[in-house]
Amino acid sequence: MRLDIITIFPEFFGVLDVSLLGRARRDGLLELGVHDLRQWTHDRHRTVDDTPYGGGAGMVMRPEPWGEAFDALLGPSDDGAGSDALVVFPTPAGVPFTQALARQLAAEPRIVFACGRYEGIDARVAEHVAGRARVLEVSLGDYVLNGGEVAVMAMIEAIGRLVPGVVGNPESLVEESHEAGLLEHPSYTKPQTWRGLEVPEVLRSGNHAAIAAWRHEQALERTRRVRPDLLPADEAGEGGQPSAN
Ligand code: ADE
Repeated sequence: MRLDIITIFPEFFGVLDVSLLGRARRDGLLELGVHDLRQWTHDRHRTVDDTPYGGGAGMVMRPEPWGEAFDALLGPSDDGAGSDALVVFPTPAGVPFTQALARQLAAEPRIVFACGRYEGIDARVAEHVAGRARVLEVSLGDYVLNGGEVAVMAMIEAIGRLVPGVVGNPESLVEESHEAGLLEHPSYTKPQTWRGLEVPEVLRSGNHAAIAAWRHEQALERTRRVRPDLLPADEAGEGGQPSAN
């Protein structure tokens, strides 16, 4: 899988050299290109933004550097050829990023992430790119970040670990929160007693059916308490509002 990122803060993505994704890159499972948007500016100040038409606070990213960036990464816009890349614009106005979407994106051969800053990118850029590639506007959640970089980092981590071979034991992906529509059950390791707290006995019983049933019940209880919105109405139980404890 190939990932390209266009950003005015390329140094931000240095952390992708470390940990699981760093190893995946060295193993050739993930190819990563980080591109400084300012290389496609032509003025002395390397300007990427300007005031919004119609007025209002903040600045909007000008379309010209983005146009050149996409010409460089997707091929010239006037040659009639489409691209197999999916172009993702992180924006709080996009579709929610979920585990299901991460799975879908992990099957893409190539994704280009376009990190906007300020009040976003001139809307003509996404419209123009949509003429030669698939475009998806994606939100990390219902809050506003200063730019797309943190959102893209989170998306790449969630997507990258689903690419076959990146996580050593694929079984560890199956039981996680959001994979079965429930939050994950609590986990324990040694020692058996720690600061007066015991590991639940069932987990030490060796009874695999009882362990599976206990874990499912714990997952269900946690989901009911914290995220009843994830459950079908008949399983959500009383309340409906998540509690803080
Ligand atoms: N850029 C700013 N806020 C964002 C969010 N919530 N999700 C994705 N990109 C963003």
